[in-house]
Amino acid sequence: MKIITNIGCIGAGLIGQGWATLLSSKGYELILHDINADILENALRKIRSNLEFLEANDFLGQEKTDTALKRIKTTMSLAEAVSNADYIQESVFDDYEVKKRLFREMDALAPKSAIIASSTSGLLMTRIQKKVTEPERCVLAHPYLPVHLMPLVEVAGGKQTSPETLAATFGLMQKIGKTPVMLKKEVPGYIVNRLQAALLREAIDLVDSGVASAEEVDRAFRMSVGLRSPLLGPLLRAHLAGDGIERFFENYAQSYRIRWESMATWNSISEQAADATINGVNEMEIVRTKSLEEIKKWRDKRVVDILRIIRESGNSEQHE
Ligand SMILES: NC(=O)c1ccc[n+]([C@@H]2O[C@H](COP(=O)([O-])OP(=O)(O)OC[C@H]3O[C@@H](n4cnc5c(N)ncnc54)[C@H](O)[C@@H]3O)[C@@H](O)[C@H]2O)c1
Repeated sequence: MKIITNIGCIGAGLIGQGWATLLSSKGYELILHDINADILENALRKIRSNLEFLEANDFLGQEKTDTALKRIKTTMSLAEAVSNADYIQESVFDDYEVKKRLFREMDALAPKSAIIASSTSGLLMTRIQKKVTEPERCVLAHPYLPVHLMPLVEVAGGKQTSPETLAATFGLMQKIGKTPVMLKKEVPGYIVNRLQAALLREAIDLVDSGVASAEEVDRAFRMSVGLRSPLLGPLLRAHLAGDGIERFFENYAQSYRIRWESMATWNSISEQAADATINGVNEMEIVRTKSLEEIKKWRDKRVVDILRIIRESGNSEQHE
């Protein structure tokens, strides 16, 4: 199995900062690169605050914030960031032209054995890797925000990605404490963002068609499906709901057909639905009384509480 010690993090925005926080906390030496000096400086402040948050919540183990921070170097030079890297995690703007150019540059500058992974949420690796000399080492490793807290990383290859690259990326993600999920083929939105997109469309439609307020739609979700979602995905949920998946389909096929027939199928949001959602969200109590930053801090604190429960009870993959 490929040994990975040095990492290049390309792009120091929200996602790059999260990767740098996590990787440095797990003992990896890394060089963080961005084309903007102010962003790099700000990223170091944000990474320190992320690490302090992890330390304060007992998520750093034996590590200390200062020790982890010492493992991070910053640079405006792409060559410096990738020329000694075993693994490169790219997190720049989600734009084909930007990523295609950058992947060609990284491919030329990095050691031949290095893996080059993209954090992209919306683009296909098959297109990004097309003009790269060694496309088999290019892969998707898609995280969720906040990257240093959320366990999931979706790993997927483009058409030319090698099985060895997929396995090594998957292994690295496991080693840094992530829960990687391997896709058998790439598809826009991977798994979770497709599920989220289906849910979001229906949530918007419920608000727009006057079934419930935005506050009530979110509350209904949180206090039911949301509450058990660290344990049950939609498919195991159906197995339990039907007393067996076969019986579920026998018993609920008709009622699901009626639901599906009455549900929204639009592909681009109307101005009216957007306005209704914007008004509804702005009327939510938490949005009226807290700033965005305060809500994010509250979210991260609560996510840590939930992760601690999962960690202390084994983990949600353990079915004792
Ligand atoms: N924000 C999310 O919720 C989220 C979640 C998962 C994955 N992603 C993906 O992660 C990537 C980064 O997203 P983000 O939210 O961190 O964006 P961001 O705008 O916060 O950061 C992007 C950074 O890339 C830098 N950059 C742009 N071109 C560059 C180049 N050629 N070389 C080096 N640096 C460059 C910018 O200066 C900026 O600091 C995107 O591909 C996005 O799809 C985003």
